[in-house]
Amino acid sequence: MHKNKLNIPLGDRSYDVVFTDGCFSGADFYGFLSSDAALIVTNDVVEPLYLNDLKASISGKFKNIYSVILKDGEFYKNWENLNLIFDALLSSGCDRRTVLFALGGGVIGDMTGFAAACYMRGVPFVQVPTTLLAQVDSSVGGKTAINHPRGKNMIGAFYQPQLVVCNVSTLDTLPARELRAGLAEVIKYGPISDMEFMVWLEANMEALLMRDRTALLHAIRRSCEIKAHVVGVDERESGLRAILNFGHTFGHAIEAGMGYGVWLHGEGVAAGMVMAAELSRRLGMVDEAFVQRLKSLIERAGLPVRGPVVDASDNAGRYLELMRIDKKSEAGEIRFVLIDGPGKAVVRGAPDALVREVIDACCA
Ligand code: NAD
Ligand code: GLY
Repeated sequence: MHKNKLNIPLGDRSYDVVFTDGCFSGADFYGFLSSDAALIVTNDVVEPLYLNDLKASISGKFKNIYSVILKDGEFYKNWENLNLIFDALLSSGCDRRTVLFALGGGVIGDMTGFAAACYMRGVPFVQVPTTLLAQVDSSVGGKTAINHPRGKNMIGAFYQPQLVVCNVSTLDTLPARELRAGLAEVIKYGPISDMEFMVWLEANMEALLMRDRTALLHAIRRSCEIKAHVVGVDERESGLRAILNFGHTFGHAIEAGMGYGVWLHGEGVAAGMVMAAELSRRLGMVDEAFVQRLKSLIERAGLPVRGPVVDASDNAGRYLELMRIDKKSEAGEIRFVLIDGPGKAVVRGAPDALVREVIDACCA
């Protein structure tokens, strides 16, 4: 058992998130059945940094440890690359007791989780997130997916890991732009549910940007606690869980509209949160001071507060078109996560004309 951990309460699908630092250790990986084979899925950036360390730490539990190295980037979060995981599993003769390990950021985590959900109708998997974004959000909660050219994360499954091992030391090698992108998902937890956390972030943003270990561990743990509560209440997003998508409706439109990988997910979410907050203000749900406060925190994290122009001829029209494909849409109506007073989020529609005004006001 590990001292610094958090349980995700999902009945017989419950599991722990372990918070650790230093090298990976065999003791971090407990609570799932050992078996003949493990397959580690990673990419060509993370492989030279952490694959051997992870292999060494789990070597006592498996007779054979295989790995598959995917190309790096959001651009490759698609069918072709998902298939490489199945190819590796089948060519290594992996059976349904094989444990998959996702070693990397949210792209690797989402793809490995989806592969685990599908292979032989479901095999166990462990998340080993190595980006801030993956440690505070994507590795926890069981959303897995790949992108479709028409929409982000459109093909996927809810499938929970058996364990998540968040090693904060891996963030030492993370490029600064990726660290900032992860901060967007950290910031979102404040306005949607915990204004005390927002106050803490306002006081500690510089420490986080300097990668202060204590500050990072606090931000990661608090983010996971909030997510654990939300996922525990609503695992399959029939209600509450949608609030975790604050900023994502606009953000996903930015990612798809610009071409996957041009704007990082966290960057889209950052500008998207400002747009969603501004829409909330225009609907009379928050005041101007709140929008400015959120904007200022996002700016201090070094993140964009204005969306890009995704179509020079009809920018707002293109945003609307992209946002209608969002998974929260119902019968063609776009539904936004809006802030109904600081610390409280709701999901609702808004008139297209008002959304157009927000896009016009908030894009470069
Ligand atoms: P990513 O996986 O592309 O990782 C970012 C970059 O950092 C990549 O180039 C990666 O190779 C590199 N990298 C990873 N770890 C590193 C390390 N320790 N040192 C150096 N480089 C490292 O992106 P991300 O921001 O981690 O994740 C974004 C993805 O997560 C998106 O596809 C998004 O849709 C998804 N997501 C999913 C959920 C969910 O609930 N499943 C939630 C949020 C986001
Ligand atoms: N990242 C949003 C969710 O997990 O629901």
